Amino acid sequence: MERQLLTNGRLATLDAPDGAGPVEAGAVALADGRIVWVGTAAAVPAEHADWPRQDLGGRLVTPAPIDCHTHLVFAGNRAQEFERRLQGASYAEIARAGGGILATVSGTRAASEDALLEQALPRLDALIAEGVTTLEVKSGYGLDRETELRMLRTARRLGRERPVRILTTFLGAHACPPDYRGRPDAYLDEICLPTLRDAHAEGLVDAVDGFCEGIAFSTAQIARVFDVAGELGLPVKLHAEQLSHLGGTALAARYRALSADHLEYATEEDARALAAAGTVAVLLPGAFYTLRETQAPPVAAFRAAGVAMALATDCNPGSSPMTSILMAMNMGCTLFGLTPDEALRGVTVNAARALGLADCGRIAAGLRGDLTVWDATTPAELAWRIGFNPLHRRLFGGSEC
Ligand code: NIG
Ligand code: FE
Repeated sequence: MERQLLTNGRLATLDAPDGAGPVEAGAVALADGRIVWVGTAAAVPAEHADWPRQDLGGRLVTPAPIDCHTHLVFAGNRAQEFERRLQGASYAEIARAGGGILATVSGTRAASEDALLEQALPRLDALIAEGVTTLEVKSGYGLDRETELRMLRTARRLGRERPVRILTTFLGAHACPPDYRGRPDAYLDEICLPTLRDAHAEGLVDAVDGFCEGIAFSTAQIARVFDVAGELGLPVKLHAEQLSHLGGTALAARYRALSADHLEYATEEDARALAAAGTVAVLLPGAFYTLRETQAPPVAAFRAAGVAMALATDCNPGSSPMTSILMAMNMGCTLFGLTPDEALRGVTVNAARALGLADCGRIAAGLRGDLTVWDATTPAELAWRIGFNPLHRRLFGGSEC
């Protein structure tokens, strides 16, 4: 049995009530990749006291960050679209003209699995370099059977290529492909839903997502996707109220979704519905920033209703070309008004909830040994800086890597 005792850390366990500061002079005992005991160094039980020790020099220790919303697998880039937006074109205009998501669909359809892997790895490595140990990866740039499956297989491969846990999400309802233009229901019937069944049969799907928006799918269409997910026993989540209020949040709550994501146009009533359903609000400040949106999500209403808030990169080539979870924390504070403690909860305990995971996101006995040690002493230092990475050590399942 592999055992170790980390001592002299400042532990932000995220396992205590909101506002509880780090445990001073903390210790964590790890055995076989799991946390077996957490407390103060002075209280280490005799049974762990002689385990090999590592002194953390008073550094901050947190649960390793979790990126609960990414589109990490895609081919090509959208730098040209970036230039067009700088000249005044909107994201929705570009999408309606066949660019945006559909531009990435062309590139992704043309890419082999090896090419997709090769292009995704540097993005994954950037997240790992900031300590991320668990992340979600969506499909949705194929919009045909072969490419959707290829994206999901590539996502699974990422988890074999690197010391990281990948959760896959089927996002066939991301956009209506050109060959089905104006016939979204036919696309759902003929491509999206059969592909979901096939992907599930191949063990490629951990959850099902959709894009509920004027430029994508209506609530009625998303409900059809969610019904099939329910039939297959898969949890759902939804891109909702990003650019307008269409009722996606209420729909997500009705289906007891793991999360509703974006939410710039969500209302107080939506916040109450999310709270009642236990659905996490995943805030994506990278997309808000990139699209130069002006309406921020209703954070005060989420707080008042008791909605758990997560933060993620939304890493994608169009609306959020961001591969930094620390930057997501910084933007969550600066753009959305989260406190640094909320930002840390957003990428740990609440991000785990948004993925339906109970075995990570906190430092507590029984959980995976997914920990990060920082050259910092307070959680605020993680969200404070821009473009600086204070990671000292990353433990994935108890192993340093
Ligand atoms: O989360 N909202 C839909 N999907 C992505 C955008 C994808 C793209 O522009 O390529 C998002 O913002
Ligand atoms: Fe997204």
